[in-house]
Amino acid sequence: MTYQNLLLSIDSGIARVTVNRPDKLNALNQQTLIELGLAFAAFKSDPTVRVVVLTGAGPKAFVAGADIAELVTLSPTQARDASLLGTRVMSAIEQLGKPVIAAVNGFALGGGLELAMACSMRIGSDKAKLGLPEITLGLMPGFGGTQRALRLMGKAAALELMLLGAPIDAARAHALGLLTQVAPAEQLDEVVTAIAKKLALAAPHALRGILDAVNRAGEGAIEQALEFESTAFGLLFATADMREGASAFLEKRPAQFRGA
Ligand code: COA
Repeated sequence: MTYQNLLLSIDSGIARVTVNRPDKLNALNQQTLIELGLAFAAFKSDPTVRVVVLTGAGPKAFVAGADIAELVTLSPTQARDASLLGTRVMSAIEQLGKPVIAAVNGFALGGGLELAMACSMRIGSDKAKLGLPEITLGLMPGFGGTQRALRLMGKAAALELMLLGAPIDAARAHALGLLTQVAPAEQLDEVVTAIAKKLALAAPHALRGILDAVNRAGEGAIEQALEFESTAFGLLFATADMREGASAFLEKRPAQFRGA
């Protein structure tokens, strides 16, 4: 599979995806969204992929938003379809069942922050700027951003970002819980790789149970979520990896997880 707007590599369980439109600060046009959807569908069914790292090409931006040049050409019904496409792709990333780390290497604005929020973790460069500036275009987030911002930051901060539209720096984003961790720009790759390597060695079924419990069941009523958690927890006892993990602990040796 060749992509026009993505760079892709898979090595030692870690898939790296780079949105590659640096001259447009990696803005998400429909072609890029379609390609992201295809790439994540392939990762879902590829057992050699244990964790995904998502970033943007060039020194300035993770993703500076939906492609405004393309947006302005859309009719209301086309805009609804474009939003549905974006929402489907973000949900596919969120529901991959494998950890996805956003390496936020610069501007993460609008659809770019929505993309980062669909990931399981966001590690930011200290130069990153994050925001939901759609209001400045007379718009609102359309790729699930209203809901994910609310859930990640709480109502007060989510409304501040969406109503005022002003970007925030990495330190504030970290304080709000929007960034999991902040690293000096020149060390971002190293920090993200260390986390990705750790996740690539973790038990895939257990990772999936956690991600599904948080991302899927956690969205419904708490009783349902707790029941889901218990079911997922119980199912892990059918995996060889859970046996291996428990045995390794008891035998005081490192565990070797095989995804079985
Ligand atoms: N959609 C389409 N093109 C975009 C874009 C977007 N979201 N963000 C940046 N670009 C393009 C610019 O139009 C410019 O293209 P050009 O060289 O052909 O004119 C190029 O990327 C570089 O951007 P530029 O604005 O010149 O860089 P800057 O450093 O001066 O400013 C930003 C950086 C991020 C502050 C500014 O690009 C910006 O505000 N982008 C839009 C952010 C936004 O509103 N996103 C939400 C969209 S819903």
